[in-house]
Amino acid sequence: KVYTDYFFDEPAYNTHDGGYVPLERMKVPEQRLNVPPLLKPDRETETDIYYTLVAKAGETQLLPGLPTKTWGYNTSLLGKTPVFKKGKHIHITLKNELPELTTFHWHGLNVSGPIVDGGCHAPVYPGETKQIDFTLDQPAATTWLHAHPCPSTAEQVWHGLAAMTIIQDDVEAKLPFPRHYGVDDIPLVLQDRRFHENNQWDYRADYDPDGVQGPTALIDGTVNPYFDVTTQKVRLRILDGANRREWRLHFSDDLTFTQIASDGGILPAPVKLTKLMLTCAERAEIIVDFGNYHNGDVVTLYSDDVPIVHFRIGDYQPDNTVIPDHLVDIPNPEPTPNLPIKKVVMSGMDEEVMLDGKKFDMQRIDAKQKVGDVAIWDITNTNDMTGGMVHPFHMHGCQFLVLSRNGHEPYPNEHGFKDTVGVNPGETVRIKVWFNLPGVYMYHCHIIEHEDGGMMAQIEAFDPEHPKTYDLMDMDTL
Ligand code: C2O
Ligand code: CU
Ligand code: CU
Repeated sequence: KVYTDYFFDEPAYNTHDGGYVPLERMKVPEQRLNVPPLLKPDRETETDIYYTLVAKAGETQLLPGLPTKTWGYNTSLLGKTPVFKKGKHIHITLKNELPELTTFHWHGLNVSGPIVDGGCHAPVYPGETKQIDFTLDQPAATTWLHAHPCPSTAEQVWHGLAAMTIIQDDVEAKLPFPRHYGVDDIPLVLQDRRFHENNQWDYRADYDPDGVQGPTALIDGTVNPYFDVTTQKVRLRILDGANRREWRLHFSDDLTFTQIASDGGILPAPVKLTKLMLTCAERAEIIVDFGNYHNGDVVTLYSDDVPIVHFRIGDYQPDNTVIPDHLVDIPNPEPTPNLPIKKVVMSGMDEEVMLDGKKFDMQRIDAKQKVGDVAIWDITNTNDMTGGMVHPFHMHGCQFLVLSRNGHEPYPNEHGFKDTVGVNPGETVRIKVWFNLPGVYMYHCHIIEHEDGGMMAQIEAFDPEHPKTYDLMDMDTL
């Protein structure tokens, strides 16, 4: 079966919002896709690996003419890609060379909060260096790193502080997927910006409390990119790294592609699609088979009706690998008996956004859940069907399973682990949540201006045998 649907409620597409900024076709010449290089470890042993991440300001040549002032991790824009092997002990040095404080948030990693997780309680001040270390016990996945200082997460991500991260494990390694990074395994960070005078970005000028947008698609930090295809099959690790934009992706000729992974790892079964909508912070890994195309052909990836990447087909060896019908087993623990259903309400738009009727408070713990307990959460978006928004609900410190949407089956590509799920206006999405590590974790809308605007709360995952107290930062102690 091939699905030919975006699944989300069409009246809720961000295109219907009065403040929507449509993407525009770029008139600049096509440029080679700037695939982020892998981040080289400082050193590696059988058991341990060491990385250094430097948040810094720089300049990037994005358009003909003047370079654009940008921020990035170990590079001038976005970041180099670290690879984490499941089970290895990972040590990371975090360096802040920016003129203001930042944090290093591991979106999608099950690491302890609030410090290693890198949310707003873990500032690294200008000129400062900090160390974190962790071991990952979660399946292979495409996750990401981004700045998360409250309330300037949105502005820092807009400047460029977002990088792809890859988790590898033995299960994924045995599946017949392309995995030659940069050749047939390609990260695609989807963002959008507006270029002002002298090719500069101006966050304040473009500010919109419902999320900042720009008319120019920026893919891996490249305007109007092309990618040279040298293999029949290409795996794309797609991240919606935009502050607010939803991407409605499809290829020329309505080419069918296969989704193999969602936010938190490989799907139990591949899903064939011709259309894919991603909301902010969601990831999808897809495999595209260019077997019907020949040297000289171009296959275009679109969002709505605007081309965003041109795949230039070259010579390739025939590839007859078949994606198996069953990929991985997803653990699906029984809910802990007698736990009440945890209800979460996302309400409002613009400055009125709230979570459970409140604005975020860094010092308030809004909920508690015992480590290891498996709880049912109902996430409701009270926006109106007409004129509301899809709010992408994200949780730190865990990967959850989507059980239902308004009592109906989740979308066909939502049967794997997720850390972010788009909730339509008027909808309740039921998810199953458990934490493996004690800590304080944020959960919020991932339209980043909504998060900065207070549509966020935090939960303590606690271990009754080892009670902990947390030193929670306050806005003015920062
Ligand atoms: Cu992508 Cu609270 O984060
Ligand atoms: Cu996160
Ligand atoms: Cu929102």
